[in-house]
Amino acid sequence: MRSNMKTKTAIAIALSVMAGTASADGHSSVEVLHWWTSGGEAAALNVLKEDLNGQGVGWTDMPVAGGGGSDAMTVLRARVTAGDPPTAVQMLGFAIRDWAGEGALADLNDLAAEQNWDEVVPAALQGYSKFDGQWVAAPVNVHSTNWVWANSAILAQLGLEQPADWDGFVAAMQAAQDAGYIGLAHGGQAWQDATVFDSMVMGVGGPEFYQAAFIDLDPEALGSAQMVQAFQRMETLRGFVDDNFSGRDWNLASAMVANGEALFQIMGDWAKGEFINAGQTAGEEFQCFRVPGTEGTVTFNSDQFAMFKVTDETARGAQMTMASSVMSPEFQVAFNTVKGSVPARTDISDAAFDACGQLGMAQLAEAAASGGLFGSMAHGHANNPSVQNAMYDVITAHFNGEFDAETAAAELVTAVELAQ
Ligand code: GAL
Repeated sequence: MRSNMKTKTAIAIALSVMAGTASADGHSSVEVLHWWTSGGEAAALNVLKEDLNGQGVGWTDMPVAGGGGSDAMTVLRARVTAGDPPTAVQMLGFAIRDWAGEGALADLNDLAAEQNWDEVVPAALQGYSKFDGQWVAAPVNVHSTNWVWANSAILAQLGLEQPADWDGFVAAMQAAQDAGYIGLAHGGQAWQDATVFDSMVMGVGGPEFYQAAFIDLDPEALGSAQMVQAFQRMETLRGFVDDNFSGRDWNLASAMVANGEALFQIMGDWAKGEFINAGQTAGEEFQCFRVPGTEGTVTFNSDQFAMFKVTDETARGAQMTMASSVMSPEFQVAFNTVKGSVPARTDISDAAFDACGQLGMAQLAEAAASGGLFGSMAHGHANNPSVQNAMYDVITAHFNGEFDAETAAAELVTAVELAQ
């Protein structure tokens, strides 16, 4: 508690003495902290860099690798505490709310009013982009985590269709393994284990259970027989992962599907960015479908750019140019067709999107209309970062064999209680 207060005081001081971030020669520029370091992510980021470049806004890159952004958020905290925050930061869900609550984020209301963001940004996203009625972040996309990425050639060779249910999914991985392939490409990193777990919880218990466990943090749901079953499904998946999974980056797991080493990967649709970057086409070399059991639901996350408060007018102008670009309909198409995500606006045609993008857009709208749209726990949209990290620890310890499924569910109850 004490050290927490100390940190908060340090941050308040740091924010109050903070200078602007116009470049030394007075030209407008932004310093962007992000975790888009894979091939597909870098290609998407380039769309933004070039857009800003075309408007005379320079770019200072501050990449911090690590999906889910935990490491990026640690670096951000250190930068702010040192009185040197980046101008623009890629952020997810509850982290945006935390920083807004600390008074660190710039007010985007004038720009939002001018460009009518209230009307075009989906309601589910506004809960994170606005704090106390004030716009504090510009959403660049909507990703979702309950996808399977499949190698078409292996499916065809084994005479398999896209599986219709969990048993079919397991049978397909078994057939692939029997034929000498890897059933499931996976990287053993806590955030990847958690990404898969989003779908196991939704698949076992459906929307009510997901809501109770991950959003309401109901101890009964967290320790329930359904949670035990979700952990048991993780054990089943573990049986189809190769021996070298530990520490593997997610994009290398995507490459295993793209290269024909592995049949499936369960991953958010940023994986599509990797397939595209490798020259592949949705519906041809690779396929996408919802994790069996989660059909009709979407567990989403939205990358947003939060702007830190700056005093320098040139720097503030650059931030507003960036926020404006991010929200423009043309940019949302250009960026998201490369990134694998779908637009963070409801008024964009799906014509420029590939088969998976069109499916993603339609399913997002359906899920929003039917009450099947939920924030991803793994990607900071279901609960605050301390609860999220507590969940990560249990999920990853279980996946690595430290706990059986019953113990893991019990540990989840305790870890969540302590983290609140
Ligand atoms: C997510 C982020 C995505 C993608 C992924 C892997 O948290 O929202 O944009 O980059 O991490 O790095």
